[in-house]
Amino acid sequence: MHNAVQERIIRPARNIYGSLRLPGDKSISHRYAMLGGFAEGTSRFTNFSTGADCASTLACMEALGAHVNRLGSDAVEVTGVAGRVMPATHPLDCGNSGSTMRMISGLLAPQQGRFTLIGDASLSRRPMERIRKPLEAMGARITLTDGHAPLTIEGTALKPIDFTTPVPSAQVKTCVLLAGLQTAGTTTVRESVRTRDHSELALRAFGATVTRTIDSVSIAGPQSLHAIEAAVPGDISSAAFFLCAAALFPGSGLVIDSLGLNPTRATLFDVLTALGAHISVLNLEEKHAELVGTVQIAGPAEGLGSTEVSGALAAQLIDELPVLAAIAPFTRGGIRIRDAKELRVKESDRIALVARNLHAMGADVTEFEDGLEIPGGQTLHGTTIDSGGDHRIAMAFSVAALKAEGETLIQGAESAAISFPEFFDLLDRAAER
Ligand code: S3P
Repeated sequence: MHNAVQERIIRPARNIYGSLRLPGDKSISHRYAMLGGFAEGTSRFTNFSTGADCASTLACMEALGAHVNRLGSDAVEVTGVAGRVMPATHPLDCGNSGSTMRMISGLLAPQQGRFTLIGDASLSRRPMERIRKPLEAMGARITLTDGHAPLTIEGTALKPIDFTTPVPSAQVKTCVLLAGLQTAGTTTVRESVRTRDHSELALRAFGATVTRTIDSVSIAGPQSLHAIEAAVPGDISSAAFFLCAAALFPGSGLVIDSLGLNPTRATLFDVLTALGAHISVLNLEEKHAELVGTVQIAGPAEGLGSTEVSGALAAQLIDELPVLAAIAPFTRGGIRIRDAKELRVKESDRIALVARNLHAMGADVTEFEDGLEIPGGQTLHGTTIDSGGDHRIAMAFSVAALKAEGETLIQGAESAAISFPEFFDLLDRAAER
């Protein structure tokens, strides 16, 4: 991301109203870019994520020999390397994207050659042991720097593994499956919480056979992949900011169409419904096994109630927790979040930053090692928000700002472009003032 540092002023809103279509899902776009870049033939993706993270994945695949042809801001053609990447002459720059670094490592570990993966300051602080361990158990040669990037891979033939993920992580699961795809024998990943299953669905869409049980995924390698044409569903984690904003205003009305509704990603609907929001889903369709539909939401007349997010729910909602926490003071009964320690190792320490920014807006918050407790019935005032360069923090507090008294200044607003460059324009359109 080369955008200059930006500040944004967010004024309070009277209501949220309108209809939106959102850019393509970030998780699915990463996977389509990687699998398309690895497959045989030319894939075409429309509504591809416009975020900088997925551009990092495309650039890495290009450096590995795939041909990437941008057909506009959100359409791209990718001609794959048919299972054999080119040795990279430079380090592969994953930017801010943990998904790129962790998932591509699995793709590269069984390839021939030496690959170095680097990232920005935030990514260079994030834990990478979680992928080194299973890949090394498969026989891979990985070097980290103090548990972090830069990460170097000396590609070599691997052996299959039966691996149980110690922390629920779709990135780690995908990393192992992408290595398993190229490894003779059956590789299995077991998980205690079913994390997002886009890789399983995408691998099948590209022609691979993947088998599943309730708590495991297996792939028998080696298998080859074949190009596809696909429209990427709208990003439900981007929609979360608008859904939460709409839920805050009694009498709001927001419609989001072509939205990804994969059940492993849709837990936010359960939480918003438990809080009292009125949600309906229409026009449900399946595209490459991903569910897509139209969602309507209205805020309840009596305001939002209260809820607790813990256990498996916390893992499934991990990317939506910052915005849920940011709207919690405006609920009647508050929101308690536990078992979400992973938030501390995302693009920022999201527990600390949410607590600090809520405090700055005048809220009462209790911070735990693994979560936050935020009482309801509070009034917040506009202030300066430090996004810490984290896209989801910048966007979450832009939503809180809609209900605060006075104006809020979001510092590091440019970070929204990591996943959602259109965020501020769409927010301006949906917010009635
Ligand atoms: C992602 C998985 C999650 C999520 C991230 C995207 C993915 O990370 O937080 O934004 O696309 O697989 P973890 O695998 O670290 O839980």
